[in-house]
Amino acid sequence: MKLLFIGDIVGQPGRNAVKILLPKLREQHALDFVIANGENSAGGSGITPKTAWEIFDAGVDVITSGDHLWDQKEVMELLASEKRFLRPLNYPAGTPGLGSGVFENRKSEIGNRKLIAVLNVQGRTFMQQPLDNPFLLAAEEVKRLRERTKIIFVDFHAEATSEKIAFGRFLDGQVSAVVGTHTHVQTADEQILPRGTAYLTDAGFTGPHDGCLGREIEPVIERFLTNMPRRFEVAKDRVILHGALIEIEEATGKAVKIQRVAEAL
Ligand SMILES: [Fe+2]
Ligand SMILES: [Fe+2]
Repeated sequence: MKLLFIGDIVGQPGRNAVKILLPKLREQHALDFVIANGENSAGGSGITPKTAWEIFDAGVDVITSGDHLWDQKEVMELLASEKRFLRPLNYPAGTPGLGSGVFENRKSEIGNRKLIAVLNVQGRTFMQQPLDNPFLLAAEEVKRLRERTKIIFVDFHAEATSEKIAFGRFLDGQVSAVVGTHTHVQTADEQILPRGTAYLTDAGFTGPHDGCLGREIEPVIERFLTNMPRRFEVAKDRVILHGALIEIEEATGKAVKIQRVAEAL
């Protein structure tokens, strides 16, 4: 099974890149399933039903998110009604929405449908929100998901490389892949861990790379110079789709290949 994960989609340029590049990537790599982090898809902050539909219409099967979850109030609608939209699992009990889901691969032949579980978890080190322990909750959730399928993809939305690597090692052999998001900088440490989990510390972001993590440069520098709040508009140029391509052995759920993706628009 071939799966593509797309790193944080930033604003309209990011959505546009997915719309134009994904159909081509789907065909080129004979993709079975596509997951994308959409936490920055609405003007760079948060997600709305409208931006989520655009991403689904472009061919993404499941959207994950992260700490920008609450930036747009319309997200409540998505959390209440859209099972293909996930928020980090470790928000307080009672938070609307779901942290994981089990989905059918649309491409497989009828009678031979493959189930894919997707899990979204948020880290705690250097993150603003004091969420529940991601290690303990993820371990419990993975155990539950494995009763239905061994093919499990995890988006770990976190800042610190140490927390991300430890999390990948912790789940090694229990899930097919752990890919990090949130820093918007793609790391070069893709690997198959010893017990068969594909790992990448950060997938990067999909959007304008001539900027600061997808935003215009000047206001960000101004903010560092003055400490005064500034509006960070989404940048425009050098749009790249970042992500990772993962090949999974269906019978065992183990990954056999992981490759970074950086596709310019
Ligand atoms: Fe984030
Ligand atoms: Fe992000």
